[in-house]
Formats: sequence, structure tokens, C-alpha cells
Amino acid sequence: MVRPHATMFAHTKATSDMSETTTRLAWLTDIHLEFCGPLVLDQLFESIVRQEVDGILIGGDITTAKDLTQSLRLLDARLNAPIYFVLGNHDYYDGSVRGVRRKVTALCAESARLHWLAKSGVIELSPTTCLLGHGGWADGRCGDYAASTVMLNDYLVIQELSGLGQELRLEIMQSFARAAAEHFETILPDVLERYSRALVLMHVPPFEEATWHEGRISDTDWLPHFCCKCVGDVLREQMQQHPDREMLVLCGHTHGAGTAQILPNLRVITGGAIYGHPKIQGVIDVDASMDEWIDGATSRE
Ligand SMILES: [Fe+2]
Ligand SMILES: [Fe+2]
Repeated sequence: MVRPHATMFAHTKATSDMSETTTRLAWLTDIHLEFCGPLVLDQLFESIVRQEVDGILIGGDITTAKDLTQSLRLLDARLNAPIYFVLGNHDYYDGSVRGVRRKVTALCAESARLHWLAKSGVIELSPTTCLLGHGGWADGRCGDYAASTVMLNDYLVIQELSGLGQELRLEIMQSFARAAAEHFETILPDVLERYSRALVLMHVPPFEEATWHEGRISDTDWLPHFCCKCVGDVLREQMQQHPDREMLVLCGHTHGAGTAQILPNLRVITGGAIYGHPKIQGVIDVDASMDEWIDGATSRE
């Protein structure tokens, strides 16, 4: 049974349409629907429906700001299951962070099956396992931000980041990342007290070791834009303090598939993605052991 932890978080919604027993979740990330025609969309939706899962995880970069609410409505209409998602940097393209978040909050208030994890808090998947998440943001703390020559489109087409110099841009990026870290700081102690396993959905990898791109860890030029270190610091500290608990983080953003074992009880899987070819990264069986949690996810390249 998938159900929200209603007593802990006031924003969480009741989800009465969910299965009473098994919990299988399809995980997707970086589906970038703005690059997909109707045929590709149909194939994607059919492949998900065929899995007969109890819920769908989408790790951000769903589309761009202009189409985001429309795409979420379409996903809601076509997939016969609750959708738990976080937002990626592309979801704010040609829009503003504040505006997109306001629209997504309003949309999720209207739909019983759309759950933006940054707002909905903790979802109970079983008596021992829960789901939580936040998109995060690259915080310039890994690699060499000052020397980096990378100019992501983020810095041109997201309102809060456009037209800024390197230093001011970093301040804004770090304020977004800090909000993500505070989200986890606030809820994780209670989560790890209550549940033995936590499934965490993110967009930006929270550890340098998880910034897979074309089969290797990103270099110092790209790392400042590919890692949300301040969230990683929170996750690492919490899992060190709770060695009897387990955490699996699912992320994307770098479009390279790989796995990183950060601690014995903390593993990160990064999803691989190609524009125009959205796919299911894997199916999670919540009742399985952590080693067998994900069927079909790509291992280290
Ligand atoms: Fe992406
Ligand atoms: Fe991204």
C-alpha cells in the first residue's frame, strides 16, 4: 500500500485509489517531453501502463516551464497510478522558479494523484519504507566553480538566474540548494526514527561520486553545475548517525547512468537519459531487499 504519512505533514494528500498490498514503482528521470512527438509519448505511456505499477516516480526535467502543467495533466490522465515527482532545472526554462512552483502547487492541489515531493513531504510505501524527495540544485561546491567555463542554459533562460555575474549567480544557486538541504534536515530525523528504509527522489546528484556522464564522474569544469553537495552532506551525516537504516537515492540531471555506494547504508543510482528517448529507468519492488530493490536500473557504466 502506498499512502502518505498524514500525521507528520499537513500538506500530504489522501490517495484512496492505490493498491492495498504490493508496491511496485516505475522510476523515470529526465524525460524532457519537449523533445518528444506524439508517437514517442504514446510509446512511453504504454510502456509504463504495461508495468501495472502502483506508482510512478519522475525525477525532474519533465519538460520546460511553458508546458509543465499541461504535461503533468497529460501524465496524470494517461498513467493509471499516482505520480510522485520532483522538478529539475529544465522545468523552469523560459520561466521563473517562483512562478513554476506556484503553478505546480496549485495543480497538485487540484489532482489527487499528482504529488510534488518538495511539498508533499513523506509518503509511506510500507510500514518499514517511505519515499521523500526534492529536486535540489547544483550549488557550485564541487569542482572549480570560479574557473569553470560551463555556461548552462539555466543561466540564460531561468528568470532568477539570467543576466547575473558569476558571483551573484552562485549566491542564487546556493540559496536554492540550501532550501533543498533544509527540506531534508527538517524531515529526515523523524523519517529515520520511524522507518528502516528511505527512498529519496532527487534531480541533481547529491554526491560528486554520482555525477555520471558518458561513463565517468564529471570533471572539475562541470561538477559545480552537476552536484548538490549541501544535500549530500545532510544525507551522509544522517545515515552515519543511523547505521541500522538504509537509504537509496535516485537522481538524474547528468544523463549518465551509474551507481555510487557512498556508505554501507547509502547508495545512489543516477539515471541515464537521451533527449527524445524517454524510458523507464527501473521498477522498484518496495518489499525486496535493498540489493534487489530496482529491477532494470542501469549499473555503473
Ligand atoms: Fe535533463
Ligand atoms: Fe537537469
